[in-house]
Amino acid sequence: MPDQSGAAPALIELDAVTKRFGDATAVDAISLAIPRGELCVLVGTSGCGKSTTLRMINRLIEHSSGQIRIDGQQIRDVDEQRLRRRIGYAIQSTGLFPHWTVARNIGLVPRLLRWPAARIAARVSELLALLGLDEDEFAGKYPHQLSGGQAQRVGVARALAADPEILLMDEPFGALDPITRESLQDELLRLQARLHKTIVFVTHDMDEALKLADRLVVMDTGRIVQQGSAAALLQAPANAFVESLLGGRDRGLKHAALTRVAERMRPLTDAQAGGPAVDTLGVSADDSLRQALSLMLWHGVDSLLVSDTQGQVVGSLSLQDAVVERNTRA
Ligand SMILES: Nc1ncnc2c1ncn2[C@@H]1O[C@H](COP(=O)(O)OP(=O)(O)OP(=O)(O)O)[C@@H](O)[C@H]1O
Ligand SMILES: [Mg+2]
Repeated sequence: MPDQSGAAPALIELDAVTKRFGDATAVDAISLAIPRGELCVLVGTSGCGKSTTLRMINRLIEHSSGQIRIDGQQIRDVDEQRLRRRIGYAIQSTGLFPHWTVARNIGLVPRLLRWPAARIAARVSELLALLGLDEDEFAGKYPHQLSGGQAQRVGVARALAADPEILLMDEPFGALDPITRESLQDELLRLQARLHKTIVFVTHDMDEALKLADRLVVMDTGRIVQQGSAAALLQAPANAFVESLLGGRDRGLKHAALTRVAERMRPLTDAQAGGPAVDTLGVSADDSLRQALSLMLWHGVDSLLVSDTQGQVVGSLSLQDAVVERNTRA
């Protein structure tokens, strides 16, 4: 979980960071503190400075002014190569070397770090398994023999190879179909629950941003317009630009997609407990409120039974429960 206390220094700190290309200001005095273990998502319209921000963090682009610190140390004071090996980087086009096998591509950074061959081989096996790629099938393939989703997995595996604390991801799933994209998002969340990396993730896709972000940072013309949790931004967008980016009138449904049925359901009373549950429509407590609302709409009902992961009925959800938060109901 991200540290909300403010006590621990952030792992990545940007302090009034500006990037100018000639006369043009691509990034304009942005300040951002990303605590260790947080998944921070940068969103904003095309050209607002997301990629530039990301690439300044690993010094693929040098910032013009301000300070960027990692673990308290200014990145200008760290050797570029050493810095980059501490930071995984995954991009939309994957950047895989076409004439290298999957295994060789994944082992790139460990080889640069001169790990012994046996350790590299073991790490490559581990990463293939972690990303759900069968080693016998994929280790010897070349990038052109992979589907888009498989290539992205290899790209993520390569970014993770030397076990960096920081992962920078620039629209890594941008080129994928919606179904593959969703499954890779789920996998990223599963990986993150296990690995607790500090991730800066850039996307154009607001649903992807809302789903992944511990912290959402909205940028416009080189500046940060608003940052906070997805729920906080949906509840109180700072201005009309943020509101339209968040989906305008779809905001309610986007917020409902972030809320679990368990947070709104009414637990069963003793009288109801153990009663038959068979012929009423139901949802799982882990489903989103959006899924529950969709079911009610589709079937024309105004309440649903709620079951737990074992399929036991644990409560009920009425339309009223779904649309009005309990503590505001008095
Ligand atoms: N090397 C460069 N030289 C000059 N201008 C650049 C350079 N790289 C980026 N820019 C400009 O800086 C601004 C920010 O670009 P950046 O790539 O960071 O945007 P972005 O938010 O990632 O956009 P997109 O969503 O389209 O990827 C743009 O106006 C772009 O044209
Ligand atoms: Mg970009």
